[in-house]
Amino acid sequence: GKSYEYLNVSTPRPGVGFIQLNRPKALNALCTPLILELNSALRAFQSDNAISAIVLTGSEKAFAAGADIKEMKDLTFANAYGADFIESWSDLVSFLKKPLITAVNGYALGGGCELAMMGDILYCSSGAVFGQPEIKLGVVPGAGGSQRLTKAIGKSRAMEAILTGDNISAKQAGEWGLVAKVFDSPQECVDGAVKTAEKIAGYSQIAVKAAKEVVNKSQDLGIREGVEFERRVFHGLFGSKDQKIGMGAFAAKQKPEWTNE
Ligand code: CAA
Repeated sequence: GKSYEYLNVSTPRPGVGFIQLNRPKALNALCTPLILELNSALRAFQSDNAISAIVLTGSEKAFAAGADIKEMKDLTFANAYGADFIESWSDLVSFLKKPLITAVNGYALGGGCELAMMGDILYCSSGAVFGQPEIKLGVVPGAGGSQRLTKAIGKSRAMEAILTGDNISAKQAGEWGLVAKVFDSPQECVDGAVKTAEKIAGYSQIAVKAAKEVVNKSQDLGIREGVEFERRVFHGLFGSKDQKIGMGAFAAKQKPEWTNE
């Protein structure tokens, strides 16, 4: 495949795309070239029919220590606003219809925490450290942190984290529901993410896509519209081959052979 300066990209298991951020000297600080590479790697997996789910991780020491402060420090309002700085980040999730599992070991601070929260499923290991320390730099989160963290852990906890810049431990992240699971070690966290991705890859891609779509709607819609949306998608799936295959296999006590149609 393609080679990248700041990423290691592989396919560790059938159907599973794997991306490791690899800028160790800067603790995976998310400079613009890295974000552009990440966009391109995610797009390649999105358009690859052989890939059903994606895992994104960093190193044992850092998932990512934030946006690149050295790159940002001399930005002016006019060039940040004019060039829509950080806008390229929003691409990372808006086009991605396949499930993304973010596996966080070590630091996930600022933009690193925001990137982790762009995952559909978050996993971490017991030494992981989350936080939005932008207040210490004289700014506020700029890649969705104030919105996603608040939705994930509630207003009071998010306010506390964002106003103080204090870190959130893995234990808190687990208890507060920021992450789905806390693993004992970085290796178990990455393996766990790959295993989950492989499980997802064993289902109909049509159903998986629809599942991600309906759950994501809950983030934007009220309950009534959300439930209506869900029902339309549910009804729509009776037009798929895989619904016939899945339910037929259950009734016949057989294993379904998905067609992704
Ligand atoms: N940007 C640029 N470089 C960074 C960086 C960042 N966010 N985080 C770490 N680095 C660099 C350090 O400058 C250092 O480089 P040098 O060796 O050239 O000095 C190298 O990575 C190693 O870092 P440390 O020596 O600081 O490592 P440490 O183990 O002592 O500390 C840390 C680790 C607590 C994570 C510390 O590096 C740190 O506080 N980093 C900044 C965290 C931060 O404020 N993140 C938010 C950024 S703002 C943002 O993300 C905006 C947004 O919402 C999009």
